[in-house]
Amino acid sequence: MLTTLRRLFGAAPEPNTTLDRERLPKHVAVIMDGNGRWAQKRGLPRIAGHRAGGKVVREVVETAAELGVGHLTLYAFSAENWRRPKNEVSGLMRLFEEILQSELEELHKNQVKIEVIGDLANVSEGTRRQFEKAITRTAENTGLHLIIALNYSGRADILRTVNEALEQSAKTGQAIKMDEDAFSDVLATAGIPDPELIIRTSGELRISNFLIWEGAYAEFWVTETLWPDFGRAGFTQAIHDYQRRDRRFGGLTKDSDAR
Ligand code: FPP
Repeated sequence: MLTTLRRLFGAAPEPNTTLDRERLPKHVAVIMDGNGRWAQKRGLPRIAGHRAGGKVVREVVETAAELGVGHLTLYAFSAENWRRPKNEVSGLMRLFEEILQSELEELHKNQVKIEVIGDLANVSEGTRRQFEKAITRTAENTGLHLIIALNYSGRADILRTVNEALEQSAKTGQAIKMDEDAFSDVLATAGIPDPELIIRTSGELRISNFLIWEGAYAEFWVTETLWPDFGRAGFTQAIHDYQRRDRRFGGLTKDSDAR
């Protein structure tokens, strides 16, 4: 990966994708969708689509690191994905483990810091251990924060937080009142800036329980491209388009006629 990173640093910008490095989104979050359809189109088993998607993960991580994006969250496995056929779930878990195992040292050398949001407790032991190893190994790194959403549910994270507050309140007999910052500080994403750009591949127009609190003001960018066909060009294009959006946060732009 290091050599690829070096190559990317020196690479000429792609046509129509001149980026302003001063205005990069601090946090890009991605719903990687379309692996199954990609495989189906080729008459391959679904897991072949996930494997092809794994290669694109590498390319997107490299591109994000090269550009200087601070945080990248990848939606690898939702809490709802357990409903998939058993062999697909176990294949995915094995794939996560393999990718982490083979990429960990390169990621570490490139200063990537790996974090996980979601409930690791219910994930198979081998996969959980590999994630724990990756988190510990890269804990002091200062480059790209790569956040993997694994067995993640935005609603479950919010409910956990609320239930913990209610429990504490019942114990102490004190009412608890939180503001937005205090609430953000107890979610799984505590300390991570809210995503400014959420990308979804494969043309679906849903948020799918992904960062539903954190993404309240995120720009949403969707492409028809299936995840295994997405890559450096797609990621760069999304950031390019983001930089041309008018972010108002419910207010008006500087140029608006405010009469
Ligand atoms: C959704 O496509 C994709 C997933 C549920 C899994 C994505 C996982 C990877 C690409 C590997 C990532 C690895 C690491 C270590 C982060 P789908 O199967 O729902 O596609 P479909 O809608 O076409 O069926």
